[in-house]
Amino acid sequence: MADSPSLTRRDFLSTSAKLGAVIAAAPYVSRGAAVGAGAKSDTVNVALIGCGEEGRILANAALNIPGVRFQAVCDIWPYNLTRSSRLLQKFNHEAKPFEDYKEMLSTVPGIDAVIVATPDFMHAEHTNASLKAGKHVYCEKLMSNTIEGARSMVTASREAKKLLQIGHQRRSNPRYLHARDKVVREAKLLGRITNISGQWHRAVTDDFGFPNGQAIPDAKLAKYGYANMHEFRNWRWFKKYAGGPVSDLGAHQIDVYNWMLGVNPRMCIASGGVDYYKTHEWYDNAIIAYEFETKEGIIRATYEVLTTTSAGGGYHEYFMGDEGALKLSENPKFTKLYREARAPEWEPFVTKGIISKPDSGEGAPAPVKPWEKPGVKKLGGPSKAAGVDVRETAQLSAWDMPVTLDKAIHQPHLENFFDGMRKGTALNCPGEEAFASAITVLKVNEAIAAQRMLKFAPGDFVA
Ligand SMILES: NC(=O)c1ccc[n+]([C@@H]2O[C@H](COP(=O)([O-])OP(=O)(O)OC[C@H]3O[C@@H](n4cnc5c(N)ncnc54)[C@H](O)[C@@H]3O)[C@@H](O)[C@H]2O)c1
Repeated sequence: MADSPSLTRRDFLSTSAKLGAVIAAAPYVSRGAAVGAGAKSDTVNVALIGCGEEGRILANAALNIPGVRFQAVCDIWPYNLTRSSRLLQKFNHEAKPFEDYKEMLSTVPGIDAVIVATPDFMHAEHTNASLKAGKHVYCEKLMSNTIEGARSMVTASREAKKLLQIGHQRRSNPRYLHARDKVVREAKLLGRITNISGQWHRAVTDDFGFPNGQAIPDAKLAKYGYANMHEFRNWRWFKKYAGGPVSDLGAHQIDVYNWMLGVNPRMCIASGGVDYYKTHEWYDNAIIAYEFETKEGIIRATYEVLTTTSAGGGYHEYFMGDEGALKLSENPKFTKLYREARAPEWEPFVTKGIISKPDSGEGAPAPVKPWEKPGVKKLGGPSKAAGVDVRETAQLSAWDMPVTLDKAIHQPHLENFFDGMRKGTALNCPGEEAFASAITVLKVNEAIAAQRMLKFAPGDFVA
């Protein structure tokens, strides 16, 4: 924005000040809090801190968004710093490379926004420094590996009057938005939701190594808080730097539970352990139960993250009600809707564009007539239709949603962030909401360690 011929620095500052006023006035930047109506769209100058796998994925997605210009990149590992600079150069972004984020923030003029994709234990430091330097921040999930870290980020964003978006990207995925806003809330196709189950099953993986000659010297690793190269590369498995699979994978999906229901859980109980890997500290497998209290009644939810088997259908969140069920996944092939035989007809919702015709693929389960009793159907083998298992859904007819995501999966969430800066569009995952999710996630590891049920108080979720 700073280099923009059509939007002066003063215009931008005035928009930011208005934006800040909204942040300060509202408990959080909620839907409908758009400010700066009529503000001009323009170039946004961006810096990236953390140029690893996710940093490059975000950079690639942001490169598709018109007007986004990378001005600087920062990483303590020269290997990744060079790779990301080269990637950006290929797209004619002359991003200046830095090892030290403080130097980057103080010397590169006109940065409007910072994307933070460092290991979780550095999120608060990098985010807070960027906010204090007057930048809007898009920070990856999990917001922080500590409650204090996450709370400090919300405070810093309020004090700086700058936007803070956390990278729970499913919240901006059009399929997820359609499912929540149209299928569940408007058409109420699930009836009363009584249960949720979710999972991420991943096969055994080897620890990350590093290319020959690319080790960071011990003194430099120590300066940045890492014990050695193995922990630096495999930080997500160690307690000092992150929260293990529960926060690495589970954070996305547990966030979807809260987001879909619009409430946070009232209790959590969990079982987990270091059952398999010999070189990690965090629980490799965890099985969790939450209870949510809603106006319609209690919802019992389970979630399991397994890192020792990919069997059992990948990753999804499954919302189940007395009239229908919704299986959502970032992977479209696992996404499906199921109608209970007792539910009112769903055909009218096809006409309204809320759902689409049942899968007519080979082996898809036939719609069951309302008068057919559950449990009497003779079953064949499993369906060949993507994501549908006849054994699992014998009594249910399968339906689809007429919505697809035709972009990189992180792009809509980044677009929402940049729209927040440019047009005052409400953020889909402001710091305050991500804080509530961080509390929901971090409690799981606490419950596993305590080996007992832990309760949440409503005040726990407020930063
Ligand atoms: N939204 C998603 O779908 C998604 C997916 C994967 C990872 N993530 C998140 O993205 C973040 C990064 O994960 P990753 O998989 O890219 O990890 P990674 O290890 O591949 O990359 C981390 C990068 O940060 C750099 N780094 C470490 N300490 C630093 C410091 N003090 N200053 C500057 N750079 C530093 C490392 O050198 C490395 O290049 C994590 O918070 C992770 O939870 C999100």
